[in-house]
Amino acid sequence: MAFIKDEIIQEIRRKARIEDIIGQYLPIEKKGRSLKCVCPFHDDHDPSMSISTDKQIFKCFVCGTGGNVFQFVEKFEKISFYEAVVKVAQMVNYPLDVALPTQEKPVDSRFSDLYKVLNESILYSQFQLESVDGIHVKEYLHKRGMNDEQINRFQLGYLPASHRLHEFLSKKGYSDQSMIRTNLAILNERGLYDVMINRLTIPIHDMDGNPVGFTARTMDKHDDRKYINTSETEIYSKGKLIYNYHRARNECKKQQKVIVVEGPMDLFAFDRAGISNVVATLGTACTKEQMLLLRKLSMNIVLCYDGDMAGQNAIYKAGKLALANGLQVQVANNKTGMDPDEIINSYGADELKLMVQKPLTWMEFVYRFHQYHYDLSNYNSKREYATVIMNELQQVKDNFDRNYFINQLSRDTGFEVHQLQSLVVQTTTNVFKQVSVAPISKNMDGLLIAQYEILSQLLLSNEAFGRFKDELGFLIDEDCQAIVIQMMEYYRMHHKLELADFLSHLEKPHLQKIVIDISESELFVKQVNIEVLVAAMQKVKDSLKKRQEMELKQQLQAVQDPQMKLKLMQQYIQMRKNSK
Ligand code: UTP
Ligand code: MN
Repeated sequence: MAFIKDEIIQEIRRKARIEDIIGQYLPIEKKGRSLKCVCPFHDDHDPSMSISTDKQIFKCFVCGTGGNVFQFVEKFEKISFYEAVVKVAQMVNYPLDVALPTQEKPVDSRFSDLYKVLNESILYSQFQLESVDGIHVKEYLHKRGMNDEQINRFQLGYLPASHRLHEFLSKKGYSDQSMIRTNLAILNERGLYDVMINRLTIPIHDMDGNPVGFTARTMDKHDDRKYINTSETEIYSKGKLIYNYHRARNECKKQQKVIVVEGPMDLFAFDRAGISNVVATLGTACTKEQMLLLRKLSMNIVLCYDGDMAGQNAIYKAGKLALANGLQVQVANNKTGMDPDEIINSYGADELKLMVQKPLTWMEFVYRFHQYHYDLSNYNSKREYATVIMNELQQVKDNFDRNYFINQLSRDTGFEVHQLQSLVVQTTTNVFKQVSVAPISKNMDGLLIAQYEILSQLLLSNEAFGRFKDELGFLIDEDCQAIVIQMMEYYRMHHKLELADFLSHLEKPHLQKIVIDISESELFVKQVNIEVLVAAMQKVKDSLKKRQEMELKQQLQAVQDPQMKLKLMQQYIQMRKNSK
C-alpha cells in the first residue's frame, strides 16, 4: 500500500464529516444535541454509540470502541487503516493518487482448490442447462417468469440424471478429495456418486463472492426433497451464510434497508421487479450469525416470508431474533397466503413493490399475528391475548406508539386501559441492559487521574505542551508516557493538534481508547488551563518524590555495609530537606 502523507490524511478527514460517513453505514438517531446509533462492534440493542460532531469522533459507551472517521471504517469494514483512508477518500470524492486496494480480498489459499472445483461445476451445470438435456428445465424457468439475463447473472444451471458431474470433474483432473470436501460428491461402498441429480442448481457464494456450495431444486415431481443444500463443509455452513449477500451489499447500503426472503425463487421475483436489496435465508430457521451478517448490510430489515401460517410463524421467530440482535424490524404487508414468487406471477410486480415499500411496523405485525392464535369471543382467550400484547408492548419505547396499541387493544377486547395496564407482568423489562465499561472517574487512582489531566491539557495546545516539556517532560504510567511520546512527535510535525487527526497518528488501539476516554470524560476542562496543568504536574512530581524516598528507605534497611549505609542516609536526609 502506498504511503499517504499525514497532511493528505488530515485533509480527507476534514472533508469527511464523521456523521455523514457513519450515516452511510448505520441509521443515526438525533437525541437532543447528540447523535447516537446502535453500535456495530458489539451485540448492541439500544443505541449506545455516540458521535461527537465537534470532536469528529465516535465512541461506544458499552464496549468502549471509539476513534475517528477512518478508524470507524477500518473497524466496520475490517480493513487496514490505509485502506480505510482510501475508502473514505472515495466516499467524499477526494482525488487520491494512490493505487486503490483491490476490492476483493485475496483468496484464502487453503480453499482455492475448493473454489476452483465449484467454479468448474457451475460452468458445467450452465452448459448442461443450455444443452438438449436442459431444454425442459429452461422452459420450466421461463414458465416461472425467469428471463435469460437473470438465469445468467445468478448462474443457474442443471445437473441431469444422465450425466455425472464427478466423472466430468475427474476427467478435468479434479481429485475425488476436492469433490468430497465440497460435498459435490459423496463416497459410499459402491464408490463416488453425485449429490445433485436431476436438479436445477443455484450457486451460493460467501460474503466475498467465492462459490461455496449450491441450493438445488428437484425437477422430479416424485422427489419429496424439493430443495437440497450443500451440507456443512469447510467453506459452507448454512447457518453462517446468507444467499446473495455479495450481490446485494451495495444496494442494501444505499437503500439502508435489506429485504429478507426465504428462497431464491422469491429473491428472483424481487429482482424482476427491479428490487435488488434482497437476500435469502434459504429456509425459515434463522441463526444469530445470519443476523450479524444482516447487520453488516443494514440495521433495517424487512421480513418477507410466505403469507401462510408457517411463514408468519417464521417471521415472528426471525423478527424476535433480529430485535434481540439490535436490528430494526419491519414486516412486508403480505395480504395473500402466497410467497413473493407466487405474488409476482399472480398479481404483478407492483403488488410486490407495495408490500415492501409500505411494510408493517413490527408491533403492527405482532398485534395481528397473536390474534390468529386467540379467540376474542371467549373471555379467557381474550384475556390471554391482552396479556400477551401488553407484554409485547413493553418493548415499544415510543409512548405515542404504545398508547396507540393500548387503545386499539382496549377497543378490540372491551377491557379498559387501566385494566390492561394491570396485566403487565413486571419482568426485568430491560433484558437488554448491558454493563458499560468504566469510563475515567474520580474514583480512580489519584496519580493516574493527574496524568490524564496533564494529557487532556496537552491535547489542547502546543503551549501547554511546551510548558510540560520544560517542567516535567515525562509521565509515569506506561501508556500515558507512550501517548506523550507520540504527541511530541506530532507537535514536531504540526504546530496544531486536532484530536481526530491525532487519533490517526496513534496506531495502538489501547492508546486511542485512552485519548478518547480522556476527551469524553466530564472530569476535564474544555479549554487550556495552565493552572490545572501545573497542579497536575506538581502531583506527579510529589508522588514521584515519595516513591524515590520509599525506595531509598527500603535500600537503607537492606544495606549492611556501614559506609554505604552512611552514604544512603545522607542522600535520604538531603531528599527530605529538598521536599520541605
Ligand atoms: P418453500 O417450500 O416455500 O419453497 O420453502 P419455495 O421457495 O416456494 O420453492 P419453489 O417456489 O417451489 O421453487 C422455502 C425455502 O425453504 C428451503 C428452500 O430454501 C426454500 O426456498 N427448503 C424448502 C429446503 O431447504 N428444502 C426443502 O425441501 C424445501
Ligand atoms: Mn415458491
